[in-house]
Amino acid sequence: MSAHWIAPSILSADFARLGEEVDAVIAAGADLIHFDVMDNHYVPNLTIGPPVCEALHKHGVKVPIDVHLMVRPVDRIVPDFARAGAEFITFHPEASEHVDRTIELIREHGCRPGLALNPATPLDWLDYTLEKLDLVLVMSVNPGFGGQRFIPSALAKLETIRERIRSSGRAVRLEVDGGVKVDNIQECARAGADTFVAGSAIFGSANYAETMRAMRAQLAAL
Ligand code: DX5
Ligand code: ZN
Repeated sequence: MSAHWIAPSILSADFARLGEEVDAVIAAGADLIHFDVMDNHYVPNLTIGPPVCEALHKHGVKVPIDVHLMVRPVDRIVPDFARAGAEFITFHPEASEHVDRTIELIREHGCRPGLALNPATPLDWLDYTLEKLDLVLVMSVNPGFGGQRFIPSALAKLETIRERIRSSGRAVRLEVDGGVKVDNIQECARAGADTFVAGSAIFGSANYAETMRAMRAQLAAL
C-alpha cells in the first residue's frame, strides 16, 4: 500500500489566522490540506468557498488542497474550485443529480475526483464509479461539524472498500474523515485507510507537530 497521508482539516483552525495555521500544519508535516465546504443546505453548517481556497493557494500552500464538498448542487461550484487551486475534489453522491457526470466534470477540469460516503450510505455507489475515482472518502461522523465522535461501523466499511480497491488494481486513496485521533488512527489504518483527516485532534492540540508525530508513530507501529 502507498504511504500514509495526514490531512489536517482547517475546519478546526483559527479562521482569523488561516494562512499561519496552514503554514504551521505544513511545517509539522501535513501531506494534504483538507478543505471542508458546507452550504447550510446539504449539511446544517456554512463554511468557506472558492475565494478562500484561492487565497490559500496564492499564499503558497505547498501541499495539495483536498476539497471536500458538502454542498448541493455540486456541479456549479466544481470549475470554481478547479480555478482556485484544488487538487482533489470530493463530493457526496446524494448531492449530485448525475454522479458519473460530476466525476467527469472534476476530471475535465484537471482535478482528481473523490466520492464521499456518509455513515448510512451504501457501497453500491462504487459499483460503476470506482474505476473513475482517485479517492474514496469514508465519513466516520455525519457531515457538518468538527469534533464529533468516531462511528465504529466506519471500520468495516473501510475494510470492504480496501478489498474492492485492491481487486480493481487501481491506485485509489482511501480516506477516513471524522473523529480521527491519535488513539484510533491505527485501527483506521489497519482497516485499510491510507489518508487520515484530522481536524480537532490537530488544531485543538497545543503542539501540532507533536500530535502529528504521535499519529505517525501509531501508523509506523502497524
Ligand atoms: C465533517 C468534516 C470533517 C471535520 C472533521 O463534516 O468533513 O473534515 O473537519 O473534524 P474532526 O477531525 O474534528 O472530527
Ligand atoms: Zn471533511
